[in-house]
Amino acid sequence: MSVTITVDHAVKKYGDVTVIPDLSMQVNNGEFFTLLGPSGCGKTTLLRMIAGFNSIEGGSFYFNDIKINDMDPGKRGIGMVFQNYAIFPNMTVRKNVEFGLKYKKISKEEMRKRSDRFLKLVHVDQYADRMPQNLSGGQQQRVALARALVISPDVLLMDEPLSNLDAKLRVEMRGAIRHIQKEVGTTTIYVTHDQEEAMAISDRIAVMDQGVIRHCGKPSDIYSRPKDLFVATFIGKSNILEGRLVKKDNQAVLEVFDEEIILDTIRDGEIFDRTVKVSIRPEEWVLKRSDGIPAVVKDRIFLGATTQFILDIGLVEWIEMTYESEPGVEYEIGQKVYLGVKKEKINVFDMDSEQSIMKGVVHSVYESD
Ligand SMILES: Nc1ncnc2c1ncn2[C@@H]1O[C@H](COP(=O)(O)OP(=O)(O)O)[C@@H](O)[C@H]1O
Ligand SMILES: [Mg+2]
Repeated sequence: MSVTITVDHAVKKYGDVTVIPDLSMQVNNGEFFTLLGPSGCGKTTLLRMIAGFNSIEGGSFYFNDIKINDMDPGKRGIGMVFQNYAIFPNMTVRKNVEFGLKYKKISKEEMRKRSDRFLKLVHVDQYADRMPQNLSGGQQQRVALARALVISPDVLLMDEPLSNLDAKLRVEMRGAIRHIQKEVGTTTIYVTHDQEEAMAISDRIAVMDQGVIRHCGKPSDIYSRPKDLFVATFIGKSNILEGRLVKKDNQAVLEVFDEEIILDTIRDGEIFDRTVKVSIRPEEWVLKRSDGIPAVVKDRIFLGATTQFILDIGLVEWIEMTYESEPGVEYEIGQKVYLGVKKEKINVFDMDSEQSIMKGVVHSVYESD
C-alpha cells in the first residue's frame, strides 16, 4: 500500500527556539517529493517528525486519513535511507537487505525471493555474498536503498543519500533512485541541499528557508517562474538587477540598462510605476555582434556545449551569461559585444517584499495537478 502524506500546520521547537513555525504540505500517493533548501533550514527536522523520531510541538501529520502524531515509529511503515549508509559492516550484502524482514513472519524461501528481487533492482545482486567494506560508496548506498525497499514500506524517506558520493556517481545514482522509485511506486520524500539534484529527480519540490516553504511545485514551474527572489537565486543561477516598471498606454514597460522592454507577463494588478528587482538567468541573454545592450567580455569559460561569459554591462555589477558554443566563433576578452534578452523569460519582483509579480507563478503545497 502506498499513501498520501499530509502535514497540517506543523510546529517544531527545540527548547525556546522555533525551527518550523507553521508548515503545511501534502505528498501524493506514489509521488517523488523533495525538500530542498540551504543547510540548517529544517529539512532533516521535518523528515524526522514524519518518521516519528522527533517530538511535534504543534499541528497534525497524516498517512492517508490516519493521524500518526502519536504512532510508534516502527508502526508507520517507513523505509529510510541516510547520508551515511548505515549498513551493518559485519553482515553480508544479502544479510543486510534481509535484516528488515527478520521480524516479519515469512519463510526463508520468501525472504530469499524478496532480497533477490531488490538486490537485482539496485544492481548489486552479483555482490550478494560480499561484506559491505568490499563495495564502493555507490554500491553501499544501493544496498541501503534495497534494505529500505525490501520491507515494502508505505513511505520512503531519504535524507541527503548521495552527499558522500563523488560528483559522477551522484548523477548516476540519482537517475537510478528515480527509476527505482517509479518502478516500486512508493510515496517518497527526498531531502537535499543540491538544487540540480532536486530538479533532476523530483515530481515536485518544496523550496524551504528557515522552516518555511517558500515555493512548492514542479521543477520546471519553480525554475521558470520562481515565487520570490530567494527561490530565483537558490534554484539555478540568476543575474539580479534593479529596474523600473512603468505603466504606459496600459502596458507594463520595464526600464533596465537604458532599455525599454514591453512585458505582457506582469500580473494585471501589479502594473504601476515602481522600482523593481529583475532576475535574468545566464541562458536568457542573447549574444549579438551589434544592436543591443553594449557590454564588454571580462571572462569566458568554455564548458563544451556552452560557453559561459562574464560581461561588464557598465551598471551595478557584471553579469553572467551562457552561450551555445559555435565552432569558429570566438569572443575575445576585452571585446565589445551586444546583448539581447529573451523577454518572455524575465522575472520581476516587488522591491520590498521580493515576491514575484509575474503571471504564471504556480505554487501549491497540496496536490500537483
Ligand atoms: N537536536 C537539536 N537540538 C537543537 N537544535 C537543533 C537540533 N537539531 C537541529 N537543530 C537546529 O534546527 C535547525 C534545522 O536543522 P536541520 O533540520 O538539521 O536542518 P537541515 O537538515 O535543513 O540542514 C538548525 O538551526 C539546527 O541547528
Ligand atoms: Mg539535514
